[in-house]
Amino acid sequence: MNYQVFSTYDALSAHASQFILDYVRQKPTATICVASGETPLLTFQKIVANAKPEDFEQATFVALDEWVGIAPDNAGSCRSYIDSPLITPLGIPAERVSFFDSLADDLEAECQRVNDFIASKGGLDIIMVGIGMNGHLGLNEPGTSFDTYAHVSKLEEVTASVGQKYFQSETPLTHGITVGLKHLLEAKVAIVLANGEKKKGIIQRVLEESVSEKLPASALKLHSNSYLWVDSAANPA
Ligand code: PGA
Repeated sequence: MNYQVFSTYDALSAHASQFILDYVRQKPTATICVASGETPLLTFQKIVANAKPEDFEQATFVALDEWVGIAPDNAGSCRSYIDSPLITPLGIPAERVSFFDSLADDLEAECQRVNDFIASKGGLDIIMVGIGMNGHLGLNEPGTSFDTYAHVSKLEEVTASVGQKYFQSETPLTHGITVGLKHLLEAKVAIVLANGEKKKGIIQRVLEESVSEKLPASALKLHSNSYLWVDSAANPA
């Protein structure tokens, strides 16, 4: 796991966006799994601002996760957090983007559909995610097996309460549907981004603790091409 500290959120986001742009310029058919949440928003803005029209003509995006039972057009849905700032402005057509349908009757079948989509692309090239206050990646909560592809997870209380920040009114959040840690471990490049003082504690844990399924983000240490990029506010040193 390669750890790097950037002076500001802006510098962190500039680096992350340039990494993605450089990657798709080398491999235009790349499959990129991106997270929702606040962390990647500036990275998305910078990708959109700096992309050339041809950069994403062949690339595929996979949305990392979704809250179970939240409609796609809800402004707090994970889909909205990826669609509005990234997918729509880049003009990515529906056949080159995967979102979880967390309203599906059969969520296991929905997981299989996303697993099959990722497999049909030959796996993920890049997975770029934020980190939860409990060390989750996507909605892979503490205790999730590293050997799991897409699955439905039961949310910890901290995730359900922190998740309220995305919604305009109190919204019950109990379960998530998420790309799995096995997808992360099999991706060619795995990147975790963190910014702000509130992430300092969890970043310290990732840096200090040994690999354990109790700390999902520690999976990064098992990956041979992984990056933990933080801004100075999130750097515990
Ligand atoms: P955030 O969420 O980017 O909004 O901090 C990250 C996460 O919970 O995984």
